This record gives sequence, C-alpha cells and structure tokens, in this order.
Amino acid sequence: MNYLIDRFGRKITYIRFSVTPRCNFNCIYCSSHISEEAKSKEFGKEDIAFLFRIVSGLGIEKVRITGGEPLLRKDIIDIVQSASINKNINEIVLTTNGSLLRQFAQSLKDVELTRVNISLDTLRREVFEKITQRDFFEKVMDGISASINVGLTPLKINTVLMKGINEEDIIPIAELSLKYPVIVRFIELMPVGNNSFWKDHYMSFKKALEIIKRKYELSIGTGTKGEVADYYKIVGSEGKIGFITPVSQHFCKTCNRIRITATGKIYPCLFSKEYVDIWDVVKTKREDEVIKLIKKSVEIKPAAHGAIEKDDKQFIKNMKELGG
Ligand code: 5AD
Repeated sequence: MNYLIDRFGRKITYIRFSVTPRCNFNCIYCSSHISEEAKSKEFGKEDIAFLFRIVSGLGIEKVRITGGEPLLRKDIIDIVQSASINKNINEIVLTTNGSLLRQFAQSLKDVELTRVNISLDTLRREVFEKITQRDFFEKVMDGISASINVGLTPLKINTVLMKGINEEDIIPIAELSLKYPVIVRFIELMPVGNNSFWKDHYMSFKKALEIIKRKYELSIGTGTKGEVADYYKIVGSEGKIGFITPVSQHFCKTCNRIRITATGKIYPCLFSKEYVDIWDVVKTKREDEVIKLIKKSVEIKPAAHGAIEKDDKQFIKNMKELGG
C-alpha cells in the first residue's frame, strides 16, 4: 500500500469529509459564516465516490461524513454506500445533529454505516433551543433511540462544554452512559469565527471531570485505536465517558487525519489557513493529479496548531465548511 505519511512520520489513515456546509441548526458555538463559494458549489455524489475510491488506495481506513448537517443531502445514502464498497475503508462514521436520524437510521445501517456521532449539548428543552436556535429537542432524542434500535452502535454523543450554559447538564448527560450503551464525549469549546464567545464560555475538561467525580466513582476506560478522547467509566455502567481536549491538551502528535470540504479544499489541520484545492482535478476526473494534490496536502500538514489560549489567531473560520 502506498501510504500517506507526513514530514513528522504521522500516517494518515482517516479522512473527514464535510459533504455540505448547509445545516438546519444554528448553534451558538458554530459560526454562521458560509463563504459565497460554499453557497454556490458542492461536490456531487459521483465526485465523492471517486474520491473515496482514490483515498482507499492511499491507505485510508476510516471515513467520517460530516457537515453542516450531512442528512440534508438527498443522496446521503448513496454517498455512504460509495464509501462502504471500498475494501480498505473499514469504518464509516457520520456526525449529525440527529434531527433527521429517525427517517434515515435504517437505510444508513443497510448501506453499512458503522455508527453515528450525535451532537447533544443539553437535556433541557429550553436550553436546547437557546443553543441550537431550533425547537428540535424531541426529534433529536427520537433520532438517538432510532439509531440504537437499528444497531448504529456504539453510539457516541458529543457535548460541547460551555461555562454558564450547560454545566448543569454534565451530570445528566454523563448518566446516559449508565443507562444506555452510549459513549458520551465532552468536547472543549474551540474558538470559531471570533474569540468573544469562546472567551466567555470556555471551560477546561478538568472542571467537568471534577463535577462528575464528586458524584461518581470513575474507572479508567479504554478507547479504540487512533481516538482523540481519554475515556472513563462510571463504575457499573454500560457505556463510557470521554473527554476531547483540543484546547487544554492538544493531540497533534498522534493526528492521523486530513479534512476535505464540499468545495474541494483539503485542510491538513482544523486550524489551517492553508489548503490544497482539488475541485478542478476531481471534476475532470484526473486521478493522477488528485493523488498528487492529496500527497501535497499531507506534505504541508503542520506539526501542531498553536496554543489556543495564548494566541488570538488560533480560531476556526468556517466550521460548517470544514466539518469539525
Ligand atoms: N467547539 C467544540 N466543538 C465544536 N463542534 C462544533 N463547534 C464546536 C466548537 N466551537 C462540535 C459539534 C460536533 C462536532 C463535529 O464538533 O458539536 O459534535
């Protein structure tokens, strides 16, 4: 296999593909900014299938389909299927806000989606509305149970930690892992668009861990290979609790991923300003050129992003285009 290995010896085996920047939520921590270009162009399912086939030949084993909200794409089932037909790709995960999951869960399972990650930052309806600016709490809860029922498991729940907004949800969300076979992951808030929301609401994972430890005894759990979270288990629980710490303890040393946007840009790091544009060569199906440019994106992958707490320039401009 012709693997993708960067200047620092990191092997790239994981692609995050934002298949659309469009989203039916408007979360307060995710920039509403979408570039004019992203509003007017989006890879077709044939382009995406072509790319999955190519990256599979370059040693990519895991694909995450993200957005925006990927379930807004009418052809999402075909997209997932076009990833799963590649032998080398053995893990296909979809990150979703969950609002449309009930109607898609069975078809996603049928085309061999491995599992889903669902963003859920609160269990209080009114806080949910404040965070997402949508009245879809029941729909999301319904989507979660539908996914568990069809076996899109282990299901992961992503909760962004926000001081002053969802601290009271930390215990109830952690307790989901007691009752259900779910993996709850608390994510440190990253600065998106500008730093003012981040400055007001950032809290370190340590604080959340302390809150949980005050109530429950935790044992150290294990994650699966290449994962970015540290895991714990409430003693006697079915599921797990993890912490993703991009701010307080970045995990750049073991970074194994690159990101592709629906407008054909490959970002080697979530915080990169630099990208490689593959739109034209994908549209004209020039496979050798596509491979060259993917390799170039790996060559320019930085050793690490800067320290977010100290550097105002470390923010994510276009979360919806980049896909997290
Ligand atoms: N900080 C941390 N996580 C974020 N996500 C979106 N915006 C932010 C942010 N500013 C999370 C979403 C989703 C995942 C892809 O990224 O909650 O679960």
